[in-house]
Amino acid sequence: KESRAKKFQRQHMDPDGPSNNSNYCNQMMRRRHMTEGRCKPVNTFIHEPLVDVQAICLQGNITCKNGQPNCHKSSSSMKITDCRVSSGSKYPNCAYRTSQKERHIIVACEGNPYVPVHFDASV
Ligand code: A3P
Repeated sequence: KESRAKKFQRQHMDPDGPSNNSNYCNQMMRRRHMTEGRCKPVNTFIHEPLVDVQAICLQGNITCKNGQPNCHKSSSSMKITDCRVSSGSKYPNCAYRTSQKERHIIVACEGNPYVPVHFDASV
């Protein structure tokens, strides 16, 4: 079974991206298997080295959106792409809006090693 750490990497890591095209989310959400069973409504890809994202877990704890205490905010801003399903999108034809940003990101970390398992927010 896919570990939670590997699932985070599949859903959120694209260090070499983004290809600067408006189809980025349409292609990546499908390629990373987030359009199977349903169109995942919102998802963020991170365009930074994995080690830099893993290092966010060393930052001080903050509260996650779900009330758990295991979230951590990046000290620097990071290149990200937000994918949000289009209003007219109908499964199985998942259509997304692509928006590139530079933001501090908040991730939840778990385990030993203590690594990212959930993308909480960008600020
Ligand atoms: P599931 O994978 O079971 O749906 P995301 O896709 O947003 O990155 O989230 C990955 C998983 O982490 C989701 O579970 C989500 O519910 C879960 N999650 C949410 N908040 C969390 C937290 N504070 N600590 C650990 N996992 C969390």
